[in-house]
This record gives sequence, C-alpha cells and structure tokens, in this order.
Amino acid sequence: MSSTHHAPQWDDRRLPGAEGKTFLVTGGNAGIGYFVAERLAGTGAEVVLGSRDRAKSEAAIASIGSRVPGAEVRHLPLDLADLGSLRASVDALGLDRLDAVVHNAGVALDRPPRRRTEDGHELMFATNHLGHFALTHHLAPLLMAAPGSRIVTTGSFAAKTERLDLDDLQNEHDYRPKRAYARSKLAQMLFAMELNRRLRDAGSTTLSVLVHPGGALDALTPARPPFHVRTTGERLSRLPLGLVVQGKDAAARPAVRAVLDPDVHGGQLLSPRAFGLRGAPRAEPLWKHLADPVTAARLWTASRDLTGVDPTFTAPASRKPPGPGRKGTGTPATGHGKAASA
Ligand SMILES: NC(=O)c1ccc[n+]([C@@H]2O[C@H](COP(=O)([O-])OP(=O)(O)OC[C@H]3O[C@@H](n4cnc5c(N)ncnc54)[C@H](OP(=O)(O)O)[C@@H]3O)[C@@H](O)[C@H]2O)c1
Repeated sequence: MSSTHHAPQWDDRRLPGAEGKTFLVTGGNAGIGYFVAERLAGTGAEVVLGSRDRAKSEAAIASIGSRVPGAEVRHLPLDLADLGSLRASVDALGLDRLDAVVHNAGVALDRPPRRRTEDGHELMFATNHLGHFALTHHLAPLLMAAPGSRIVTTGSFAAKTERLDLDDLQNEHDYRPKRAYARSKLAQMLFAMELNRRLRDAGSTTLSVLVHPGGALDALTPARPPFHVRTTGERLSRLPLGLVVQGKDAAARPAVRAVLDPDVHGGQLLSPRAFGLRGAPRAEPLWKHLADPVTAARLWTASRDLTGVDPTFTAPASRKPPGPGRKGTGTPATGHGKAASA
C-alpha cells in the first residue's frame, strides 16, 4: 500500500523545540529583532543578541527572562558599521558552531544629510549590507560546522520597486535617504540570493533564506518595559493602521519561521501573507529582479572589494566532522539555562 507524505502546515503558535542549538540575532536588543529573539528563546535554544549597546541588550535579556522561563540569552558586542570590529565579535561568541544567524539589524534614515561610517562608507549601505556581508564571512566556519544551518537575511517591501545603481552603490550622487535605504535592503536581498547560489555550488547544507517583515510600527507593538512602552492614547490613535500593517511582534514571524521550519529551503522568500504587509508568514513568489544573477554577482564583487573579505563556504578537505557544543568544552549547549549577558 502506498502512502502520500504531506508536510505538516507551519503553525507558529507551536514552534518546534531547538534545545542544544544556538541562534544569533543582529539587532536583537530592540524592535523586530527583539521579538525574533524572544520567540526563539522559547524553543530552548541559546539566543545571542548582537548589539552595539550593552545596556539595551541587558534590558532585552531581562525582558525575555521574565517572559520565557529558563531562557538562555546573552549579549554579543556587535557594531555592523565598524567592519574592522567584526572578526573580534565573532571570536567573542566563543562557539565552534552556529545553527542560524538572523541578519536583522538595520538603520533607516529619512532625511539628509548623507552620513558616513568611520570606514568612509555611506551609513545605510554600510550597516545594512556591507556589515552583514562581512559578518557572514567571519561566521562561515561556525555555520559550516552545523549541518543545515541557516543565514536569514531581512529585506524590505521597499526594495520591491527599487533598482540598484551599481555605479553608485554608496549613493554619492543625488542622495535621497528613502531611496538609499530601499537600495541597501535590495542589496541585502540580492546578496542572500547570490549566497544561496554559492552555497548550492559548494554542496553546502547551509541555507540562505530571505524574509521581509511587512510594515511594522512601534505603536502597534505590545509593551516590553522598560525599553518599549506605549501610551493608551498612542495605541488607540494607531489602531486603524492595524488593518494595514502590524506590530513588531507579528513582523518577527517570517524570520522565526525561516530559522525553524524544517520545510524552508534556500533562496525562498518568506513574508506576511496579506499583501506582504501583515499576517502569517508564507513563501512569496520571488520578485523578478531578485532572480537576476548578473546584478547579484556584480554586487558581490563590489562588496568584496569594499570589505576586503569574501564569504566562502567550501570546507577544507582536512575538515573534521562537526561535533555539538561550545568551543573548547566539547559539550552540547544545554537547552534551558539562565538568561544572562556575557
Ligand atoms: N519596521 C518596518 O516596518 C520594517 C519594514 C521592512 C524592513 N524592516 C527591516 O527589519 C529590520 C528591523 O527593523 P526594526 O523596525 O525592528 O528597526 P529598529 O526598531 O530601528 O531596530 C533596529 C535594530 O538594528 C540595530 N542596529 C542599528 N545599527 C546597528 C549597528 N551599526 N550595529 C548593530 N546593530 C545596529 C539597532 O540597535 P540600536 O538599538 O543600538 O540602535 C536595533 O537593534 C531592519 O533590517 C529593517 O530594515 C523593517
């Protein structure tokens, strides 16, 4: 008798357990990243909040600890705008394998002037794209050591109608902040697609998955005092907007699914069901311009030249089979520990 296997439908009210796994969330100290971390902590995994602000991370860790019994959450100093610091951040992880990274942190400026990082790069392109590109390079050995690991890149609906200017990636001419933001998010999404191709070519089991959170407003987001509070007036005045967009808790759902759903595959784009703006996460047909391998490859080369690194997922022939656990301990990361910062 033959039987047909139907994959169970994803239900993010019942997340699968992930004890023994470790997930890194960039910008996990606030906004959507906080809620990604809070949900992932509930699976029993160790969750690391990559943040440039220790105090904010500690407030987030306290909040998660008060809501998720036994949550194992810690802080990692991470400044994506400072490319030279990323190697040290990855070393400070103290891990020899990583099961997923969520490239969530982002900066969105809505008015001039054009700002530059200490490295001299335009701030949004540098933080959103170049920082995550270089971080992926430094994390590659840890991700390769975890079979089926995932790199989840956060794009934006704003990138849907945008096009890259490969001759002006740093927005030096005719600087328009909203356009520069949208292009930086498009760069991230093209990077994720090119990364997916390279992972497949290398025969890697690591997946590169794209997500976008739809439209997310703080005013529609449940309170997480002390770092996120909202007044009743604010909540009521924004209530009608809830018909179109959502809170940052709901906007975290595509990334949580991208990390945990066993049926997700590389190169998939997960986003909110209702017009890509709100609702349950579903796999959205890939936007046509994201499937352009020529632009993506040219962006990769330019990013390599700007950062001086080249994310590579080809295992050296002498590589030992991966073992679970933290660097040097040889023991698996146990599911439930105490929420702490390191
Ligand atoms: N909200 C939306 O409607 C929406 C729509 C589409 C896409 N997105 C994307 O979703 C992601 C999260 O958005 P959000 O609304 O949650 O933003 P948010 O509330 O402004 O949070 C942004 C996070 O990024 C961190 N960050 C900024 N610069 C950083 C740097 N140099 N190094 C490390 N971390 C840095 C921030 O840390 P600090 O606290 O230290 O500043 C914060 O944790 C972003 O990638 C954004 O582009 C959001």
